This record gives sequence, C-alpha cells and structure tokens, in this order.
Amino acid sequence: MNIESLQKELNNKQPREILSVIYPKVKNITLSFSGAEDVVLIDMACKLGLEPNVFTLDTGRLHPETYRFIQTVMEHYNIKISILTPEHKALQKLTDEKGLFSFYQDGHKECCGIRKVEPLKRHLSTHSAWITGQRRDQSKSTRDSLEIVELDTSFTGVEDELLKFNPLCHWSSEQVWAYIRALDVPFNPLHNQGYPSIGCEPCTRPVLPHQEAREGRWWWESENNKECGLHSGLSKPDN
Ligand code: ADX
Ligand code: SF4
Repeated sequence: MNIESLQKELNNKQPREILSVIYPKVKNITLSFSGAEDVVLIDMACKLGLEPNVFTLDTGRLHPETYRFIQTVMEHYNIKISILTPEHKALQKLTDEKGLFSFYQDGHKECCGIRKVEPLKRHLSTHSAWITGQRRDQSKSTRDSLEIVELDTSFTGVEDELLKFNPLCHWSSEQVWAYIRALDVPFNPLHNQGYPSIGCEPCTRPVLPHQEAREGRWWWESENNKECGLHSGLSKPDN
C-alpha cells in the first residue's frame, strides 16, 4: 500500500468519506472502541453499511458506567464488540508482586503494558489496519502532529505492515459532540460528570473547564508521559 498517495487522497476528506474510501481498499480493518469519538465512527460505519469489526480493550479496571456503555453500544447498533482481556499469567504476576495500585508509585507503563498493549498487539497481529478515534486537539504535547493515515511501527499486522487510520484527526471536540447530540449517538454518562477523556477508573479524574481533555488521565505523571503505549511508534509520509 502506498501511504503517500493514500494520504493525499484522504487529506481533504471528511470522516465519513474517509471510511467509505478505506473499507473497500483495505481488507481486514479493525475499529478500536472506548470513547465518544469511537462511537461516532461506529455510527458512521454502520450507517454506511460497512459492518465494522469492533474491539475494546477490557483492562479489568474500567468504570461500571463504561462496562454498561459498551453493552449499550452493542445493542444500539446490533453489533458484536470483541472484548479483549489481558494475558492471565502476566497479570497474576503483576498483582502478586505489586498489588493493584503500583502505577501510583512506579508509573503506568507496566500495568498498561499488560492490560492494554499486549492484548492490542495480539489482536492487531491478525489484522492489516486499525482505526482509532484520536484527534489532534486532544493534546498539544502528544497528538498535535497526528495524521489521517499513518504506518504503525509499534505493532505488526497480519502481513507485517500495519496501517493506522485516524479519521477524526482534524475534528474538534465541538464537532464530535454536535454529531453525537444531533444524531442521538449513545455516550458514556461520565461525560456529564466532568470527564472529557475516560480511561481506567483509578487513572482518570474529571478536569476543570480551562484544562486540556487529557489532563485528568494519569494526572500524577508529567504532561508528555500521558500516552499508554497504544499510540507510539509511527512513521508518517512526507507531505
Ligand atoms: S489512550 O491513551 O487511552 O489511548 P484515549 O482515551 O484518548 O487515549 O483514546 C484514543 C483512542 O485510542 C480511542 O479513540 C480508541 O481508538 C483507542 N483506545 C483507547 N482506549 C481503548 C480501549 N480501552 N479499547 C480500545 N481502544 C482504545
Ligand atoms: Fe493500569 Fe491505569 Fe493503565 Fe488502566 S490506565 S491499564 S489501570 S495503569
């Protein structure tokens, strides 16, 4: 797949058009689901009749509201969502050795590695591309240079090369929420309690009105350390 030409083709397109271009072109795409942005993409894909293959990473540490929300989305769109769980031996070792809250002492990378990154790696190894709900304006320090299509060099796909699509890359939070409200898209009730960005319960807190969306994630760590390993390692085409 020639990423440069794909990038040029997708660059000025809206998210819905992006989905309708990539699905026929790229076989074996999987769509990641956790938050508001992802449901917007599921809504668009279902309405386009694309029958998206959707997965979510169940870390075992999500809010009760999030578990109910996952079920709501499955029922609302009449789709199956693959609930991916961590490898039990690695998780058992972590909790035997360090208990349930080691990330407050020695950082979130180890726990995220076991609960999110390894299950994602396993899942992506059987696909050739994945779709995320990332947007540039979610974080100036880590997502400012996001592109609509990228070559993911952190993970390996079924044929080695793994494409990563971020169709909402250029959308603002206001655009996402206007879509959700206008089309009655289901959303996690925690968004009405001050959480713009929702991850695991022990690692997420509400933010104040002037704060960036991701400031409530891993709040005890430095600003440029607020990625969990799902979104690092990208090779971008030259524009
Ligand atoms: S992250 O740091 O947790 O990755 P964020 O919550 O901003 O960041 O999510 C960005 C994108 O990563 C989501 O739109 C989704 O595509 C993917 N993602 C994040 N968490 C999960 C999860 N638990 N399961 C599946 N995809 C996820
Ligand atoms: Fe563990 Fe927190 Fe990462 Fe969830 S966000 S996997 S609880 S460190």
